[in-house]
Amino acid sequence: MTELLAPDPAGIARAASLLLAGELVAFGTETVYGLGARAADGEAVARIYETKGRPIFNPLICHYSSAEAAFRDVSANDAARALAAHFWPGPLTLVLPRREDCPVSLLAGAGLPTLAVRVPSAPAAHALLESVGEAVAAPSANRSGRVSPTRAEHVMAELGGRIAAILDSGPCPVGIESTVLDLAGPPTLLRHGGVTREAIEAAIGPVAEATTPAATPRSPLRSPGQLASHYAPRLPVRLEATSVRADEALLAFGPPLAGAGALFQLSLRGDLVEAAANLFDGLRALDAEGATRGLAGIAAMPIPTTGLGAAINDRLARAAAPR
Ligand code: TXA
Ligand code: MG
Repeated sequence: MTELLAPDPAGIARAASLLLAGELVAFGTETVYGLGARAADGEAVARIYETKGRPIFNPLICHYSSAEAAFRDVSANDAARALAAHFWPGPLTLVLPRREDCPVSLLAGAGLPTLAVRVPSAPAAHALLESVGEAVAAPSANRSGRVSPTRAEHVMAELGGRIAAILDSGPCPVGIESTVLDLAGPPTLLRHGGVTREAIEAAIGPVAEATTPAATPRSPLRSPGQLASHYAPRLPVRLEATSVRADEALLAFGPPLAGAGALFQLSLRGDLVEAAANLFDGLRALDAEGATRGLAGIAAMPIPTTGLGAAINDRLARAAAPR
């Protein structure tokens, strides 16, 4: 049963406590409805991907109640501060480097060193984020391949029965998604949206527009290129390993193969949600440990291709692709 919550103090308190307990809650913003999870909870974030039925891990936007809260998780620069002052709260998303101590799960950012952050202006969303008191990761609350929902009824029709609750704040006034601007390098527009390019340029000067397929927001990780290479491990990755050498680090799923030089367990009980939540931490940990110990590569045990396994295997295939 999916609870339909009113945007009053009781509904907001209920939505916040469900999120903090690791449940999925859809909520209205000024742009579209988001499918929210506590961003620091890797398994809750994994269930976002599972529920959307996405075959790949796309990085998600983290939502905050204030610019101050957002800039505790990412490093702001002058352009980010200027844009935050002009357009937050509102339909603008900024991509910035994660801080060292950023508590957001790596899965929420699809393993990237950057994080997309925004401060929504819709009063119910703001109240919810204030009540949660930490980052809420939320893609649009539709099944993969469908259009973004702008009413609670749309969310109920597509995701009813699969998520804990919907905070019904009525129709979304903007109705299209936020503008996504990458500020981790030279300012680059990744997605057009609720704030126009002209308005951004009036505030910070010229911005480039992403042209390469690898950088388009709909499929940042679909083709090899800038974003994809960002998060590839340095060690070569061998897939579908059924044995492991002493000079290899093992990415295990289920009871581990014996004899590896280092081990990271994705999920001993073979749970795909747990494995997805651990995937990027595992690749990073084995890459670092392998380098320290002079290992030759990472061997990944086979992972089923059902459910979240499709996205996990997609990511592993990228990590294993020749570079
Ligand atoms: O208006 C919106 O932005 C809505 C509401 C719920 O806030 N959210 C939304 O999320 O549209 P989603 O996941 O459907 O779109 C997020 C976009 C994707 O195109 C994704 O590729 C891009 O932001 N994105 C997220 N993190 C990124 C990163 N670190 N680098 C580059 N692009 C990123
Ligand atoms: Mg979307």
